[in-house]
Amino acid sequence: MRMRILITKDYEELSAKTADLIAAQVLLRPDCVLGLATGSTPVGAYRDLVEKYENGEIDFSDVKTVNLDEYCGMRDSDPQSYHYFMNENLFSRINIRPENTHLPDGTASDVSRECESYEKLIASLGRIDLLLLGIGNNGHIGFNEPSEGFAVKTHCVDLTDDTVRANKRFFSNESEVPRKALTMGIGTIMMAETILLAASGASKAEALKKALRGPVTPEVPASILQLHPNVIVVADEAAFG
Ligand code: GLP
Repeated sequence: MRMRILITKDYEELSAKTADLIAAQVLLRPDCVLGLATGSTPVGAYRDLVEKYENGEIDFSDVKTVNLDEYCGMRDSDPQSYHYFMNENLFSRINIRPENTHLPDGTASDVSRECESYEKLIASLGRIDLLLLGIGNNGHIGFNEPSEGFAVKTHCVDLTDDTVRANKRFFSNESEVPRKALTMGIGTIMMAETILLAASGASKAEALKKALRGPVTPEVPASILQLHPNVIVVADEAAFG
């Protein structure tokens, strides 16, 4: 295991460091495959990446991306969808080719077929060079919720009440939060060459502590990262506890 932990003063510094690491990957391998996350945590890093692009520091024209997850039943045009989030926060602001960006299709009628084809798509890209992860308050990564076993491949999950509550801030009320999502599996995540886990704020301190220093258990999905050979954790002081 090779886990490097970078502790930053605050969210701004965390965002800058995360963006620097992603930019370094793109500079090292301009046709790299980036695995990307949604949620509040990466918003600042995406903003900083856009700035680097605007300053002519990075070129995304050969970069390919695969996102971790998407809500079931959400159309791309729905402002709460992760497709929409990625377009708003990053894709429409940089020179990435739309055909090189990928997210699971939450509207697919045949869910298991969609999961299989997403998994095949990731395999066809070769490998994920750098995969950015956030962490849920309950230790989830992507939408791999605490459970009795690690789900290996892309699959459909029932979101826990905890996650629904945590994500309701993006919706006008809790009843609108989808209860199901498609997510890369733990196996899909663990195949990435390098994993970059970003965590900000005191609400993440407990989950991060368990993920980094607790037992490896599917009850804390992020704890599996202890077994990955190449993880970089960027956490602000509040999240590091
Ligand atoms: C969502 C996403 C995760 C994300 C997590 C934390 O549930 N599926 O990929 O890491 O929330 O989100 P936030 O960064 O908003 O705390």
